[in-house]
Amino acid sequence: MKTLTLSIAANRTRSSDVRELLKYAQLPGMISLAGGLPDPALFDVAGIDAATAEVFANEARSALQYGQTDGQVSLREAVTGLMKQRGANVAPENVLITSGSQQALDLVARSILNEGDFVAVERPSYLAALQIFHLLGAETVSIPVDGDGAVVDALLSLPADKPKPKLLYLVSNFANPSGATLTLARREKLVRWAVENEVFVLEDDPYGALRYRGSPEVPLVALAEKVPGALEWVGYLSSFSKIMAPGLRIGWAVLPAVLHDACVRIKQALDLHTSTFNQAIAARYLASGRLESHLDTVCKVYGERAEALASALTEAFGDKLRFNRPDGGMFLWGRFEDGTNARELLYIAREKGMIFVPGDVFYPDTPDTSAIRFSFVTVDNAGLLEGVKRLKAAYDEMKQS
Ligand SMILES: Cc1ncc(COP(=O)(O)O)c(C=O)c1O
Repeated sequence: MKTLTLSIAANRTRSSDVRELLKYAQLPGMISLAGGLPDPALFDVAGIDAATAEVFANEARSALQYGQTDGQVSLREAVTGLMKQRGANVAPENVLITSGSQQALDLVARSILNEGDFVAVERPSYLAALQIFHLLGAETVSIPVDGDGAVVDALLSLPADKPKPKLLYLVSNFANPSGATLTLARREKLVRWAVENEVFVLEDDPYGALRYRGSPEVPLVALAEKVPGALEWVGYLSSFSKIMAPGLRIGWAVLPAVLHDACVRIKQALDLHTSTFNQAIAARYLASGRLESHLDTVCKVYGERAEALASALTEAFGDKLRFNRPDGGMFLWGRFEDGTNARELLYIAREKGMIFVPGDVFYPDTPDTSAIRFSFVTVDNAGLLEGVKRLKAAYDEMKQS
């Protein structure tokens, strides 16, 4: 019997290990520190309900109609307000509304990369970004990450035998998976490097607004305002997924005009536009002024959970597990200093009723098999303590065998 031949792109795209793991999260009694989902119990359902009612009362027909590819004006204006709070002066026409920031990343990658082109990424990196780059047939070259984010100086010694990257992609705040935030000094260096080397730097920032301690760093697009020519070489992505609700599927991109226009053309071909209805709800929600107090609640709860997990891990593993205490975001990234293989540990922990993500999946090249990612935001403090207890039991069993 003849079978359908899939495209090269379909064949080289693997399902994400993290998505596979999430099947186990559904098992009764399982404590999952694996997923990257925000806590649905904290969604501002009443606020989004009120925003939806306002849409129906005031703009039902236009909100149910097709819309423009760049996005609804009301939402683009509201996003300029958010960007101002984050330190960047952006006009509404510079904002592109996308179906999640995942689509924005896809659009930028499609606009810049050809098969065989090189992309510089962090080591470790956001998995679904690597999937996009591989889907397009691009190759990756990686730079390390430490507690201060991507090691920008490593860009000065990229392998000489490989072509110069056309794109550098990085997650700037409380990164997925490393939890690290890029320091101001590195941001400034990066902007200068982008202009001098003519490499487009794409900053992905879905987590920056989830800061529970310390003060925020400014986006690269804001720093680029002061460096001649730099605005042509930096872009910014963000999303309402982690601060409002991921089911709305709304993200945005701030890009130089040439790239913005290319992304709009490609988006026309992909989905015409992002849901007008959901955009109208998001715009009304932002206009209601509820986002700030919602974020206060989310940050308070996430901050307490981060602390509970960090303390429990320190108590259980001492200096065998090294990690930075998160100041924001949804992830705690650690590394076993005694050579423990995190994937083998996962198989035993799963039997004991807890899961996490082994860090090896996040590496574009040689993986660190002792790295481990915990997401602490969907489990309450008691669940986190129990999760660490099960993890320690798995660890002890592994060391005995
Ligand atoms: C670093 C990063 N970028 C982008 C996304 C995609 O988010 P969304 O498409 O929901 O905006 C995620 C989701 O987890 C992420 O962690």
